[in-house]
Amino acid sequence: MAVVQIPKTAPFGDEDIALLNQVVGGATPTQRAWLAGFLAGVESVSGEVVEVAAPAAAAAQPLTIVFATESGNSERLANDIARTARKSGLKPSVVDLADLDMATLKAARRLVFVAATWGEGEPPSRVAVKYNELMTADFGRLDGVEYAVLALGDTAYAEFCAIGRKIDERLAALGGKRVVDRVDCDLDFEKPAAAWTEKAVKALAPPEAERGKIIPVEFGKAAAVKPDIVEAEIVELTNLNSSRSDKETVHLALRFTDTVLPYEPGDSLDLYVENDPAEVDELLKAAGLSDDKALRDELISQRDIHTLSLKSFETYATATGHQYVKALIDSGEARDWIQDRQLIDLVSNFPITLTAEHLRAVTRTLAPRAYSVASSRRENEDEAHLLISAVRYETHGRARKGVASNYIALRRKRGDKVRVKVRVNKHFRPPTDGRDIIMVGPGTGIAPFRAFVQERRAAGAKGRSWLFFGDRHFTHDFLYQLEWQEALKEGDLTRMDVAFSRDQPEKVYVQDRIWERRRDIVEWLDGGANFYVCGDAKAMAKDVRAALVRAYQDVKALSAEAAEAAVAQIERDKRYLTDTY
Ligand SMILES: Cc1cc2nc3c(=O)[nH]c(=O)nc-3n(C[C@H](O)[C@H](O)[C@H](O)COP(=O)(O)OP(=O)(O)OC[C@H]3O[C@@H](n4cnc5c(N)ncnc54)[C@H](O)[C@@H]3O)c2cc1C
Ligand SMILES: Cc1cc2nc3c(=O)[nH]c(=O)nc-3n(C[C@H](O)[C@H](O)[C@H](O)COP(=O)(O)O)c2cc1C
Repeated sequence: MAVVQIPKTAPFGDEDIALLNQVVGGATPTQRAWLAGFLAGVESVSGEVVEVAAPAAAAAQPLTIVFATESGNSERLANDIARTARKSGLKPSVVDLADLDMATLKAARRLVFVAATWGEGEPPSRVAVKYNELMTADFGRLDGVEYAVLALGDTAYAEFCAIGRKIDERLAALGGKRVVDRVDCDLDFEKPAAAWTEKAVKALAPPEAERGKIIPVEFGKAAAVKPDIVEAEIVELTNLNSSRSDKETVHLALRFTDTVLPYEPGDSLDLYVENDPAEVDELLKAAGLSDDKALRDELISQRDIHTLSLKSFETYATATGHQYVKALIDSGEARDWIQDRQLIDLVSNFPITLTAEHLRAVTRTLAPRAYSVASSRRENEDEAHLLISAVRYETHGRARKGVASNYIALRRKRGDKVRVKVRVNKHFRPPTDGRDIIMVGPGTGIAPFRAFVQERRAAGAKGRSWLFFGDRHFTHDFLYQLEWQEALKEGDLTRMDVAFSRDQPEKVYVQDRIWERRRDIVEWLDGGANFYVCGDAKAMAKDVRAALVRAYQDVKALSAEAAEAAVAQIERDKRYLTDTY
């Protein structure tokens, strides 16, 4: 049977040509004849005459779209931009900053960057090495290159959208021509990102008369569309810590009633939650708005009543004209004042007559919270398990409770329904080729590895698996202890090392265990193993990486630079994979 190849000159983007080849390439003559007749029929019914350009028509202008992502938002937006660009006569290619060859940048005539900020104003960990290269290496000037930057971030962080801003500044310093202003998006980025995309693509696209003929098709769309929010029933809600622990970590089993979410190991679920009504009442009281029942409902279910950002602080000052608040902004003290404070502190410390509109203006949309899926669909067909640690702390003399984790831990019970959506992370998957894996997941970082172990057990995966877990106390905080013991007994897990930090006078963490086991770890990695890290981004992830560099230095008698290069190479090979928060 003849295999049909769609020529590269066809009036489609590269990704669409690949998809067409997948479908049409191997089709039988009957299938091809049916398709031809079907498409001809569609055209005659629609009455639209599609003018297909002769191969000599002007080629579509290339557009390079680079994304820097940790949890997938920037990548998804990069693909959305590509779809819009294709419709405007551009030929987009979407590149992960982690894979970007800097030398190719100056050859690009049009560039778009979509960049998220992580940590405390840091690049997504996967792209850290390339980001530093982009910011510091000498790869030539970008004179005349047209570019636009879309930045993703969270106004709750002091370094809001720092990475997008720095990339924007760097491209300008290298001689690039900014065609539209950068937009710094908060967590509710969909609308501003869509508006920016229209503007940026318009500015980058060639004039209509000069465009090559591109017929926009959306073959990739069906695959790219993510299922929407679905409802799931809580079938289990158990605190895995002992009653004597100072922590509360909930194992939450959700059963899908209508649509089963097609999550994969490594994905998270976005959980849609509500504020604590008691906290809303406290805020309404401080604002003098206790009688507004409609506002109360809205604040409970839709607004972020905690986050106090510089932006909301400034909005409060402008909207109310509060003199002290204004003075803090003018003196530059506002940034320090908001540190570890929330909206309730602002309203109760600087009371003034407030309207419902004022409260709406200083609160943003309540965002869902992500939780790594701790189960595999191969073993739990219509369920997804999450592991949620209750966030509780005290600052400025006030007890604080995390919104989502306490919504689950304190106010939900078995039989209740919750709303969730998949947050795909295709950069954090167990291998399918039988290689070994090393998993480092202290605290709730253990969650995706429970999914990995279940998945590999169900799939009969060949490679060895090694788990590092840590928490405070063996007796009180050993999450899923019996399951790990069973997995070790059955051979579903090859090795496990644990570090309970407070069981002895000196603190012991997973990175200490990594150091102790360095010879075996280096041997596994030299044999092609993947190395996964999940959990705390602030300290743990950095300490683990540093421990691995030291391990290479010691085991292989390398200089510090050579050991760093060895670990960076594992990252480049996409064998050092992180999902940290
Ligand atoms: C991809 C991804 C996967 C995740 N997976 C998991 C998971 O499997 N399990 C899990 O439990 N969490 C996970 N998280 C974290 C989770 O999304 C939430 O951030 C976490 O549960 C807190 O949400 P919350 O609504 O309870 O707290 P929030 O109301 O969001 O409050 C949290 C905020 O409180 C502040 N804060 C917290 N502690 C202190 C302190 N001691 N001092 C001062 N300020 C403090 C910080 O600003 C922090 O951002 C994940 C996050 C991401 C991005
Ligand atoms: C642990 C963590 C740290 C973050 N740090 C910052 C930050 O310093 N500045 C900022 O503007 N946004 C910060 N964000 C918000 C992310 O940039 C935002 O969620 C973004 O949409 C993520 O995009 P991505 O999915 O492409 O990675 C942080 C988010 C998390 C979960």
